[in-house]
Amino acid sequence: MPSSQEKKLLLLLLCCLSTMLLNLFMGAASSNHVLAPNMSSCHLPLDFPSAETPYDCCAPSSPYPPRLFRPNSSSSSSLRIRHPAYAADAAYAAKLARAYMLMQALPPDDPRSFVQQANIHCAYCNTVYNQMFSSQVFQVHNSWLFFPFHRWYLYFHERILARLLGDDSFALPFWNYDHPDGASIPWLFSGTSAYAILSNALRDSSHEFPATVAIDFNVDTNLRPPEDQRRENANAMYRALIRDATTPESFFGWDYRHGDAPMPQGYGFGTVESQPHNSVHRWVGNRSAIGWKDMGSFYSAAHDPIFYAHHAQIDRLWDLWKAMPGHKDIEDEDYRNAEFLFYNEEGELVRVKAGDASNSTMLGYVYKEVETPWMNAIPEKRSFAPAKLGKDDTVCNEGEAIEKASCSIAVGRDPEVSKASPWLHDHLGLTVYYNATQAMNVDVYLNLPAANATTDTGCKEYVTGVRFNKFCVEDQVGYRTVRLDIKERLVDLNLTEESSIIVTLVPRTPPSLSFSGSITLLSAFVEYTLPHQRWDDCVGARSPTPIL
Ligand code: C2O
Repeated sequence: MPSSQEKKLLLLLLCCLSTMLLNLFMGAASSNHVLAPNMSSCHLPLDFPSAETPYDCCAPSSPYPPRLFRPNSSSSSSLRIRHPAYAADAAYAAKLARAYMLMQALPPDDPRSFVQQANIHCAYCNTVYNQMFSSQVFQVHNSWLFFPFHRWYLYFHERILARLLGDDSFALPFWNYDHPDGASIPWLFSGTSAYAILSNALRDSSHEFPATVAIDFNVDTNLRPPEDQRRENANAMYRALIRDATTPESFFGWDYRHGDAPMPQGYGFGTVESQPHNSVHRWVGNRSAIGWKDMGSFYSAAHDPIFYAHHAQIDRLWDLWKAMPGHKDIEDEDYRNAEFLFYNEEGELVRVKAGDASNSTMLGYVYKEVETPWMNAIPEKRSFAPAKLGKDDTVCNEGEAIEKASCSIAVGRDPEVSKASPWLHDHLGLTVYYNATQAMNVDVYLNLPAANATTDTGCKEYVTGVRFNKFCVEDQVGYRTVRLDIKERLVDLNLTEESSIIVTLVPRTPPSLSFSGSITLLSAFVEYTLPHQRWDDCVGARSPTPIL
C-alpha cells in the first residue's frame, strides 16, 4: 500500500503529467490555423479551366518580411460610408471612374495597380501559393475563410483607391441586389453608362441593365417574369441569411486549418457564399466565354470592376447577419488566427488575421442603411399532413432519369434514431449517376409531391437547390451523392414521427436550353450524422444503398 505521502506525490505527478499533456494538446490545437501563404512558393495557378492557358498571377515579391497589421479604434475616427450603387449620382460615378483610371495607370508591377489587384483573386482562389510550412495549397473559398479574406481584400482595395483620389472619405459602392431597386446591374457599371472603365465586355449581354438579377441563378433560371424573379430573390435571401444560417458554421462554411486540402468547388461553403455570392458571379459572367469569365471564374472575376461592388454587398450581408439576435462570428482560434497577405495603400506588404476582420467599424467603414424587404419573406407551409404518393404523382424509379420532369420518391427513415440521439441530424442522401456536359440544378422539396417547375421556393417544403455537375471524375461521367441536413425541415413540417417521407425532385433546366445528357437517380436515403460533418461525395457513391 502506498503511504499517504506517496499518494500525494503520485497525485502531484499525475496532475503535472495531465497539465503537460493538456498544454501539448492545446499548443497543437492553437497552432493549427492556416498560416499566411508562402509567397516564395508561388507557382502557376493549378485549377485553371482546361481551355485557358494559365498565366502568372503571383504578387510582386517584397524586399522585407511582412509586418502584422492590426486595426485599432483610432483608424475608425472618421468613417467611410459605403452607399448602394443604384442610388449613386453622376458625381460619385465620375469619382469612382477616375479612381479606377488612376489605378489602371499605375505600372503593372506596382502591387496597387489594377492588374495586380485583380491578380490577388486569382492568386488566392486559383491556388498559386502553398500554405506556409505545408505543401498544401492556399484557398480562401468553400470554407470559413471566405468572409474575412474578402473583407480584408476590399479594405486595402478601397484605401488604395482613396489614396489615388487623395480623398480620405472615399468608399466603395455596394450592389444591393437584395433590394428591388438594386436588382439589376447598377447603372454606373452597365455598358450603356458613360463610364466605360466601370463596365466590362466579358459579361452576359442578356443580363445587362435593366434585366433582373437571379439570386437563385444556376443554369438558366432567369426566364421568369421580373416580379416572380424578385419574389424568388427575396426567398433566396431569406434562406441564406435567416432560415439556413442559424449557426456560425452554416453561415461561414466549413473549417479550414493548417495543412487542410481545399474543398472542391460547390462544397464546404456557407449559405451566402453559395447564394447570392456564387450565383451572382455566374449571372454576370459571359456563359459563352471560357469559364464564364470574367465574373464567372475565380481567376478573372476581379478584372470586372463590378466584382468589388458585389463583394461590398457580400460583406454587408455579413454585418446584417451578425446584427440579428443570437448570431456571432466563428470563435475558433484557428479561424481567428488564419492569416492573409496584402499590399496596403503605401505599397507595403502586410500580414492580417481573419479574426481582426470581425468588426467593420474598427476597419473604418460602415454601410448606409437600406431596407431589406426579404427579411419578411417568411416561407409559408403548403402541406398540412404527412404526404403520401397518390396515383397522380410521378414516381422516381431507381435507374430512371430525373433531368426531364419532376418526380417524387418515398424515403424511409427511423424516427427512433433521432429521438435516441438528438445530436445526430437526419441527412437526406441522393446518389445520382451523372452523364452530361453541363451542370444542372435540381430543386428538392419535402412533403410536397405536387411540386413542379412552376412551384415557387417561398415555402417551408422547399429544401434547397442541388447543383449537379461533373464532380467525382474528370470525364463528365460520374456518380455523386449529396447529403442535405433536413432536421429543421422535418421539425417545421411536423414530420419527426414519420418513418417515410416524400421527396420531390424538380429539374430546373428550362425547355429553351437543351440539356444533353442524363442524370439518373440511383438511390435516395436518410442517414444520421453530426451537423457540418465532413463527407466525401465520391466515396461510397458507387455502392448506393437501395431505394426504400
Ligand atoms: Cu473570391 Cu466572389 O469570390
